Amino acid sequence: MWSIELAKSNGLRGEIVPPPDKSISHRAIMFSSLAEGQSVIRNFLRAEDPLSTIKAFRMLGVKIAEGTSGEIVVNGKGLYGLEEPFDVVDCGNSGTTIRLLSGVLAGNPLFTILTGDDSLKKRPMARVITPLKQMGAKISARGGDKYPPLAIRGSKLTPIDYVMPIASAQVKSCVMLAGLYADGVTTIVESQKSRDHTERMLAAMGAQIDVNGLSISIKGNPKLRAVDVTVPSDFSSAAFFIAGALLVPNSDVVIRGVCMNPTRTGLLNVLAGMGAKIKIENMSDVSGEPVADIVCNTASTLKAVKIGGDIVPSLIDEFPILCILASRADGITEIRGAQELRVKESDRIRAMATELTKLGVEVKEYDDGMDIRGNAQFKGGSVDSYGDHRIAMSLSIAAMVSDRPIVVNNAACADISFPGFYERLKGLGA
Ligand code: S3P
Repeated sequence: MWSIELAKSNGLRGEIVPPPDKSISHRAIMFSSLAEGQSVIRNFLRAEDPLSTIKAFRMLGVKIAEGTSGEIVVNGKGLYGLEEPFDVVDCGNSGTTIRLLSGVLAGNPLFTILTGDDSLKKRPMARVITPLKQMGAKISARGGDKYPPLAIRGSKLTPIDYVMPIASAQVKSCVMLAGLYADGVTTIVESQKSRDHTERMLAAMGAQIDVNGLSISIKGNPKLRAVDVTVPSDFSSAAFFIAGALLVPNSDVVIRGVCMNPTRTGLLNVLAGMGAKIKIENMSDVSGEPVADIVCNTASTLKAVKIGGDIVPSLIDEFPILCILASRADGITEIRGAQELRVKESDRIRAMATELTKLGVEVKEYDDGMDIRGNAQFKGGSVDSYGDHRIAMSLSIAAMVSDRPIVVNNAACADISFPGFYERLKGLGA
């Protein structure tokens, strides 16, 4: 719950390897637990959220060990090898853990209760319960089947054709995982393309997956084979340094080994529209994901843009930091079609609008976004993270260009996705 005071930087300079990707780390543990044989996961993200996934799968009887060089070794139990947990499974702060796990557990002959921290217990679960019930799952949840805790009695599932009302990789992945337990082909049609790490990794393990535009089909009861996974750096964590380098004068930052999956890098397209010049170098492939280095230095000026439509899911986790960039761009940035931000680890529209206003930025809030007037001089003072890791880190980047210091309260939550964030920022000259 500690606070941190951050002062204006004279330039962020140097090289950084951001922490491993959170989404891929979760999936590597989950899918190798369901595979047959031993998988080695290298560069796993040791942060609170993926550690919640390890804890959950250990409670389900999976042997997950640490190797001598820091790698994680998972002894897969096959699709039907999980054991009934002795206690309630606590998913902590992690939406990915609870939503993906509910798809797995719906098809396993076990009784489980999934819960989480106070933030997770307020996050919507009907979005996964509705399709799972259509598949025949026996699930109930608090508040009329809306919120955690979730009680799941696993049963036989039938395949469905599901048209997703919202763009969400967690919902898509949940239904795909349940589809592994259904006899036949489950088809999901997305409203907008969301991150596709599940499709890539399950296909690499031998699942039969067909992707056709926004439609994804998955065949039930495959034998998943264990594969080794090397997790690339997280673009969502890199985003804070991209923004820092663009905003702080005299900056020059090289960000190494970043996952460049196009379903994740929408921020780069937005930044190109704002006039930022960012170089992508050394493209390669790591465990089926594109990876590259990002070279970024101070932008002379950034101009305001309008953001909305199909690009939104590809930068859904980058909106808090985009709000900081918009505050310094020339003109009014309009964000729309981003109502999902209201049900993240905090209500990120309300949180950013409130905190930016405290810093002297003119913001207009809408149900599905906001208008942010640029060319702001941050006032400094005390701001709050709402216990949301991405809000804490975004406000810390604002401090890098604030004339007076900014105190970020409740700053420890950065550990949810980025342990050591403040030290790394300091290492670059903050
Ligand atoms: C995630 C999907 C996104 C994202 C979250 C991680 C994932 O959530 O915001 O941080 O790993 O699948 P939604 O699926 O709710 O959009």
